Amino acid sequence: MRVLHRFFLPSLLLLTTTFAIAQQNSSDIDSKVDALLKQMTLEEKAGQLTQLAGKTPESLQAIREGKVGSLLGVLGADNANEAQRAAVEHSRLKIPLILGFDVIHGYRTVFPVPIASTGSFDMPLLEQAERVAAKEATASGVKWVFAPMLDIARDPRWGRIVEGIGEDPYLGSRVAAAKVRGFQGKSIADPDSVVACAKHYVAYGAAEGGRDYNTVDISEQLLREIYLPPFKGAVDAGIGTFMSSFQDLNGIPGVANHHTLTDILRDEWKFNGFVVSDWGAVHELLAHGFATDDADAAAKSIKAGVDMDMVDNAFEHIPELVRSGKLPESVVDEAVRRVLRVKFEAGLFEHPYADPKREKTDILTPENLQVARKLAQESMVLLQNKSEVLPLAKTKTVAVIGPLADDKASQLGPWAGNGQAIDAVSPLEGIVGKIGKEHVLYAKGVGIPSFEGGLGAGVASPAPPSATGVKGIANTNKPSSIDDAVAAANKADVVVLFLGELAGMTGEASSRASLDFPGDQLKLANAVLATKKPVVLVVESGRPLDIRWATYHTQAILQAWFPGVQAGNAIANILFGDASPSGRLAISWPRTLGEIPIYYNHRATGRPSSPDRWHTGYLDLPNTALFPFGFGLTYSKFSYSHLAVKTPTIAPDGSLEVTADVENTGSREATEVVQLYVHDRVGLTSRPVRELKGFERVTLRPGERKTVDFSVKANDLGSYDPQMHWVVNSGTYDVWVAPDSASGVAGTFEVK
Ligand code: BGC
Repeated sequence: MRVLHRFFLPSLLLLTTTFAIAQQNSSDIDSKVDALLKQMTLEEKAGQLTQLAGKTPESLQAIREGKVGSLLGVLGADNANEAQRAAVEHSRLKIPLILGFDVIHGYRTVFPVPIASTGSFDMPLLEQAERVAAKEATASGVKWVFAPMLDIARDPRWGRIVEGIGEDPYLGSRVAAAKVRGFQGKSIADPDSVVACAKHYVAYGAAEGGRDYNTVDISEQLLREIYLPPFKGAVDAGIGTFMSSFQDLNGIPGVANHHTLTDILRDEWKFNGFVVSDWGAVHELLAHGFATDDADAAAKSIKAGVDMDMVDNAFEHIPELVRSGKLPESVVDEAVRRVLRVKFEAGLFEHPYADPKREKTDILTPENLQVARKLAQESMVLLQNKSEVLPLAKTKTVAVIGPLADDKASQLGPWAGNGQAIDAVSPLEGIVGKIGKEHVLYAKGVGIPSFEGGLGAGVASPAPPSATGVKGIANTNKPSSIDDAVAAANKADVVVLFLGELAGMTGEASSRASLDFPGDQLKLANAVLATKKPVVLVVESGRPLDIRWATYHTQAILQAWFPGVQAGNAIANILFGDASPSGRLAISWPRTLGEIPIYYNHRATGRPSSPDRWHTGYLDLPNTALFPFGFGLTYSKFSYSHLAVKTPTIAPDGSLEVTADVENTGSREATEVVQLYVHDRVGLTSRPVRELKGFERVTLRPGERKTVDFSVKANDLGSYDPQMHWVVNSGTYDVWVAPDSASGVAGTFEVK
């Protein structure tokens, strides 16, 4: 192996005309920003860098005094306009506010949770969904969304794995770009576009033990190769803002990390927008043991590269810091420039107000719901389908059983924007709508304990092992209707069992130390399985749960995640074959807790996994995921053949061209997510055993075959050397065209 090429990532090719126009606009905006900046007092500058929560009499007064640049969580055009009027009509300099909100997977039309929709691998549809979200949010006066959430995570204990993009940096950066395009549209100045915010920068998902907000200690190489690429993808797509993360990275808290916020984000990537801190994170520097008081915290954050302080008002210390010589005014000016530039670019000076009419026409429309349903259908992952029990015939009598079958709130997931449970179609409603109530028997069976009351609540006394040997969690609700469930199952042709987690068991501050099904759900499952009726398990959860029992005892497993407002219709369409499953896993599915972290793109070891004892792995478990990253079944079968490397030898400035034939060998039309993986055999650091470098969704009729082409720039095959230079190694690479990260047809090529 020899290093062939060494250069920094990556070079963007811009069309010269677009570039000229952008430059002209940006120099216009720069002069407007400078003119405004000259008129500002230090207090007004600090005000532009301050975000408060909610529209209250106090926040309105502070806005009028020029002490606020942004509010978060103000919903509804009238509310937004009232707050905006305080700034635009009653503050001295009339600088508009930028109003922000968390629109993580939809505003009112709630889409599937991001870990699910990432698995659709459908970039145009993700873009379309964020267009819908932007349209709805702006109709409600929101101009800035705290999304996309781009945290890679390898640990399903971490509750926020549900909000993110799974485990893969390439997929993550593609999703980032699609979402930024969707949110920001053609221009952030358009009335139906929002400014997007890439969060949480950076490595928040690597929290030790999966405990939210916990410390992160990872190498610079891991940071650059795994955690940074989705954020780089967002910058390349032109994102307007970033949010720094709560946690410390190698000892430096996210808001005070000059290396990530300035050296990388500004100097290497040339990011031109502004950075907001996460909720209260500047003040939390005190608890981190990184600042003595709020003034010190403010100075450390703004010097590191944070431009706006979210809610803790620590930046009110800026004037005194400047006057006492502890903070150069030039640093403050630069932060204010960045905020004002985004406000100008977003057209807020020309059009500060929301149009209240749009609230009636643009929100929760049939077209928006259609997008939500399609994305939900494409996000579910069919994990098992023994003897092709699915799709079900519409003439069957179906027992719909389980605590999530009619739980509308949980369908929306943990961070549902302005979503309302009443809008959600529950699975039961969807199934009844599909086959008629005369074909449906319903029993909830058991409830799910909510864990409310703090960490560990409800788990103090583990239940005795159930018949499957899998432990449950003591249930505070009396499981009064398991008998009803058994009776329903006995009368039905097939059982569809809805088990999982409540939405509130995932998301922020919702880490779990177990991957079990909480409460008495397994007791219910065992009772239903004892009827010997075919069982289709539908899992609704924000993380992979331990489903080993189900792989033995149920006929089919559909991982539905939290599918959003159209949950029931989407699930019914899949179950009864009106839609075909095509979703894939965006994370490796562990067999059990002890396997965490498990991810497909792990480095090669000196003793690769093997049945022989003296190799990496466990004595008591296979060294593989239960289901690998990229896995998902369809209602058909696909064969892969004829992998052809069109470019057996490529130069560092060339491209790899690969084709393979994919054929639908089953009896139904279906969509296959065809994936391209590579492996650099010898590098300057030990390379991952596989890395995703491309994918394509291919829909084929029975018997139809397609030659799928992939093209990858040699530069994108590179990696970081120990000195953190991007290098493209010469030598032999493996390549696979594959249905998932653990199989496929293989070939090799050389980089010379
Ligand atoms: C979360 C962010 C969110 C912010 C504002 C924080 O607690 O970590 O993801 O954007 O609150 O709601």
